[in-house]
Amino acid sequence: MQNITTTLKKLFYLWRRSQLPAKQPIKISRIDNLIIFLVCILISIISSYKLLLISPLNIADIFSWLLTFTEILISIGVLILVSKKENPTISSRQIFLIITLLLAVQVTKLALAATISPLSMIIPPALIISQGMGSITALAWVSIASLVWPDPEIVINNNLFFVLLVFASVVSLLGGRIRSRAQLLQLSIFVPIGSFFSQWILIGKDKISIINKQDFVLANGDIFSDSFLLAIVMLFTILLIPIFESIFGLLTKARLLELADKEKPLIRRLSLEAPGTFEHTLLICGLAEEATRMIGGDIDLIKTGALYHDVGKLHAPNWFIENQDGSKNPHDELDDPIKSAEVLQAHVDEGLKFARKNRLPKLIANFIPEHQGTLKMGYFFQKAKEKNLDINEYYFRYKGPIPQSKETAILMLADGCEAALRAMNINASDKKALETISNIIYSRQKDGQLDDSNLSKGEIFLIKRAFLNVWKRIRHRRIQYPTSKNNTFS
Ligand SMILES: [Fe+2]
Ligand SMILES: [Fe+2]
Repeated sequence: MQNITTTLKKLFYLWRRSQLPAKQPIKISRIDNLIIFLVCILISIISSYKLLLISPLNIADIFSWLLTFTEILISIGVLILVSKKENPTISSRQIFLIITLLLAVQVTKLALAATISPLSMIIPPALIISQGMGSITALAWVSIASLVWPDPEIVINNNLFFVLLVFASVVSLLGGRIRSRAQLLQLSIFVPIGSFFSQWILIGKDKISIINKQDFVLANGDIFSDSFLLAIVMLFTILLIPIFESIFGLLTKARLLELADKEKPLIRRLSLEAPGTFEHTLLICGLAEEATRMIGGDIDLIKTGALYHDVGKLHAPNWFIENQDGSKNPHDELDDPIKSAEVLQAHVDEGLKFARKNRLPKLIANFIPEHQGTLKMGYFFQKAKEKNLDINEYYFRYKGPIPQSKETAILMLADGCEAALRAMNINASDKKALETISNIIYSRQKDGQLDDSNLSKGEIFLIKRAFLNVWKRIRHRRIQYPTSKNNTFS
């Protein structure tokens, strides 16, 4: 009986864990929620009001309008839910972008349906959404934008509708994976060419004759001019993506890779002014990348986040052990543990200032405070205790917050393990290395630093194995820090 109870408890625990979001959702203010709701109502009205313009209007027409209105409103609600599920940290600005693009498309359909091909209306916004918010959100957006037509007079040709759905889905799927601006350019050339040939095969040269009721495309136009227009709109969209990135705080793969360029002025400064920190950063990138790959996290995000996590050390590089190069330790001369702790906290505060100055996206800036969490500066706390200072432990803890995502938690663990692995004896066994890694990770876990990260026990196990694999790879070329016993601050 007890066995059954234990099994049930375990199953319940696993079920509860599976219900946890991968990242802590961002709270959206009431005003933002209200604005979003009003825009949704506006989209529903614009998309259905023509149903009320029939005369004479009877109850059945009003009922049909109400049904369409509710249907559109619910669809937009589902779209927002899908985007939140795919991006738990989505901000109100980004939700606003998704629904504003939908509003713009619906208005364009009303105003220009007779002159512009639906491909040029729907595919370019799908590219923006897939780049910024991911493929699933883009696919959900495409399905609403393709199915909801505000004017009942417009009846889209089935073949054209098929071509639209196929190419919009291709753009949504590829857009979420594309890693460079060059690939975006290729997409903006190949999609119009592909759509041209598809329309040519499926619709033929004279498509006007097979469009029902109303000419859906340029009255005197042809498939070529439609596809040409699509290419121009897509190229224009690509030019606008960086502006969307900065206004709506989007973090596209291309932007992440651009930020990860080691020739960026801030990273260049780090390598010149704080070479020890730069080396530490590179090793952490390797550890964090391997661990993230193991648990299936966002590798591009963690690689870039790791690169910037300690940029705050630029404010006083020689106050950090990895940059001292055997010279005097200014902390010894200062001989004031509280002030030393302030210098350590300053690498987080200054890092956030650097992030603001260099307009780093929020998701990258989050790595700066979260990699230190509320960890205790044990070395200086110990010194304060030795000096018999009656001081609260609070002053020797980083201000936090603790890691809010799996990626920032992995970075904290990599940061903790890096110095220890580097300082480890070259002849140390794998078992010894794994033991060191496990001890460091366990101390962070016990301290409550991983509580908000949603890392499961299985994932922590995989992270340990990943760190061990990296250590095995690098031990033959590692450089030892001038680390003294207990001197483990970073
Ligand atoms: Fe740090
Ligand atoms: Fe660090």
